[in-house]
Amino acid sequence: MAFVRQNPHIFYYQKQKFLSVELRMEPAGDISVRDRQAARGPAPLIDPFQRTITYLRVSVTDRCDFRCVYCMSEHMAFLPKAELLSLEELDRLCSAFIDKGVRKLRLTGGEPLVRRGIMTLVGSLSRHLASGALKELTLTTNGSQLARYASELRAHGVERINVSLDTLDPDKFRAITRWGELEKVTAGIEAALAAGLKVKINAVALRGVNEDELARLLEWAHGRGMDLTVIEVMPLGDIGEERLDQYLPLSVVRARLAERYTLDDIDYRTGGPARYVRVKETGGRLGFITPMTHNFCESCNRVRVTCTGTLYMCLGHEDAADLRKPLRASESNDALYAAIDEAITRKPKGHDFVIDRRHKRPALARHMSVTGG
Ligand SMILES: C[S@@+](CC[C@H](N)C(=O)[O-])C[C@H]1O[C@@H](n2cnc3c(N)ncnc32)[C@H](O)[C@@H]1O
Ligand code: SF4
Repeated sequence: MAFVRQNPHIFYYQKQKFLSVELRMEPAGDISVRDRQAARGPAPLIDPFQRTITYLRVSVTDRCDFRCVYCMSEHMAFLPKAELLSLEELDRLCSAFIDKGVRKLRLTGGEPLVRRGIMTLVGSLSRHLASGALKELTLTTNGSQLARYASELRAHGVERINVSLDTLDPDKFRAITRWGELEKVTAGIEAALAAGLKVKINAVALRGVNEDELARLLEWAHGRGMDLTVIEVMPLGDIGEERLDQYLPLSVVRARLAERYTLDDIDYRTGGPARYVRVKETGGRLGFITPMTHNFCESCNRVRVTCTGTLYMCLGHEDAADLRKPLRASESNDALYAAIDEAITRKPKGHDFVIDRRHKRPALARHMSVTGG
């Protein structure tokens, strides 16, 4: 029993088993439906297409220290700080989703590591890892602050992170990010690896910008034991440039890489939308995220919350639910759970992005930095 107590997974399992046995032994009618529900906890999140929602991405800030050309315009207007949920509110919101069956939580942004006090939030959320309620706590970052935070992230139970890096050429890096310094990011990645974090590199495939460099990026990442995932650019937000000029279908990227490398399809999944191949020559994994050319919505298990507490049920739709109001309305989570349940009934079947000459406007006014990648 001592071992069971030390192991929250087993303790929880034993407790559930005990409760169900106890419930079965009571004569019918003695236990109300409410008691039964209370014994089980809040109902899990299942959408109208029978997809169970187990993955939450939380944008902790819309601000960023970069201005990547495909993500933001150079002169972005950010939310007034007063609009943002506090760290305590973000913690409560994430915890409510965990109560409702979320098992993987990704912090993103904007740039999550520029949010003041972010490590307090990570530290506090790590209790759900310790209890076994959460399987994974992770983040997507541009890497600029990693040298400072890598060890602390690892100490809080973060095991894997995604770092966005589209080029290894310092001038090109500056041109893509407008404000970024490549050296800071590569130093951050080294610090993350040294701290024992597994790092996956995410690169957006950009026509005429990094398309000739993806093989180099692959060799560099795999040479350091990191996976690489390439992403198709999506038509989110007005960026003051033509999307069509940036868009490069990954079918083209794959065909070109296949001329140089042997790409073997593998079943490996990380709970996200990437499909992976093993590159025989490097031994590393290469992922493809293809929101434009191959829609992956049938297996979608995720929803997104912004730093103001707006829940987006799909990255590709404007429909949303305000969770800040129920969160602030009462100390109890009942109204919050009800608002989440209602929103999940509105999760659409999928998205349908188009980038071509007839579609000049972005598919959505919302920038990627609002909902996070
Ligand atoms: C919005 S960023 C937020 C986290 C962090 N600042 C970063 O860059 O990793 C998350 C991911 O979205 C990607 N991204 C941003 N705008 C995009 C777009 N329009 N289409 C496809 N990916 C985009 C970025 O490259 C990054 O990998
Ligand atoms: S992609 Fe990330 S780093 Fe680049 S501007 Fe958007 S939020 Fe910032």
